[in-house]
Amino acid sequence: MNTASRFANQTAIVTGGLSGIGLAVVRRLRREGATVAIFDFETKPLAAAGGKPLVDELVLKVDVTNEAQVQEAVATVLAKLGRIDILVNSAGVTGKTNVKSHEVSLADFDFVLRTNVYGTFLTSKHVLPTMLAQGYGRILNLASMAGKEGNAGMAAYSSSKAAVIALTKVQGKEYAETGVTINALAPAVIQTPMVDAMPPAQVKANTDKIPMKRCGTLDEVAAMITFIVSPEASFTTGFTFDLSGGRAVY
Ligand SMILES: NC(=O)c1ccc[n+]([C@@H]2O[C@H](COP(=O)([O-])OP(=O)(O)OC[C@H]3O[C@@H](n4cnc5c(N)ncnc54)[C@H](O)[C@@H]3O)[C@@H](O)[C@H]2O)c1
Repeated sequence: MNTASRFANQTAIVTGGLSGIGLAVVRRLRREGATVAIFDFETKPLAAAGGKPLVDELVLKVDVTNEAQVQEAVATVLAKLGRIDILVNSAGVTGKTNVKSHEVSLADFDFVLRTNVYGTFLTSKHVLPTMLAQGYGRILNLASMAGKEGNAGMAAYSSSKAAVIALTKVQGKEYAETGVTINALAPAVIQTPMVDAMPPAQVKANTDKIPMKRCGTLDEVAAMITFIVSPEASFTTGFTFDLSGGRAVY
């Protein structure tokens, strides 16, 4: 199929779209015809867009843990673009890693759960009514290998991603007959600013477990995500796709 027009006339929201995986997805969606809105609470990574102005983008300063901000941003997208076909939930944080559970502060645990779980819940909550009215939608949540296996040293992060996987299963069932699919993706290590900020010992511990003995690339993530949110991916919902270089074979 002609992938250049795969998302023609479609509109997408990508949270965390100014960095790493989110940014790679924004670029690929735009290249294939989508109009993309970005929800991100940072403004600094704008430079990471390659210096190119994000002309047809709506770059909205949104903290995905804040329901009022999410609601207002979704309304803005609808007012400007008229529909929402795709939601990619890529906003996420690791919190402090390379620490054992008894060393994790409640504040850090709370921060990670809020961003990764509440953020995913809130954006889907406010986008779903539009997708249901359209009778079409694709939601993709960034989970992680940590949520399937539980990475030592990453109690808050692993717990939060397990919750994202469970939320995806629930929503997949709830909306299975509506034309809206909700899936997750569980990558192993992908070299992004998030991974750059982690202690090298934690990154090595995670990367050593990958049978392909390398990190995944942003191109590989974007290719997988854009398939999952494409019209072609119509008979899979509630599922957590694998992107782990052979680490998880279930
Ligand atoms: N990089 C990896 O190896 C890896 C592996 C598995 C899963 N993931 C998941 O993929 C997603 C993206 O990761 P990444 O490596 O691209 O990270 P990143 O740090 O490069 O980008 C995350 C983006 O989310 C934004 N963000 C964070 N909290 C936010 C909030 N409350 N509201 C709005 N925006 C917020 C940040 O500003 C940033 O632009 C995350 O959910 C992460 O957990 C990443």
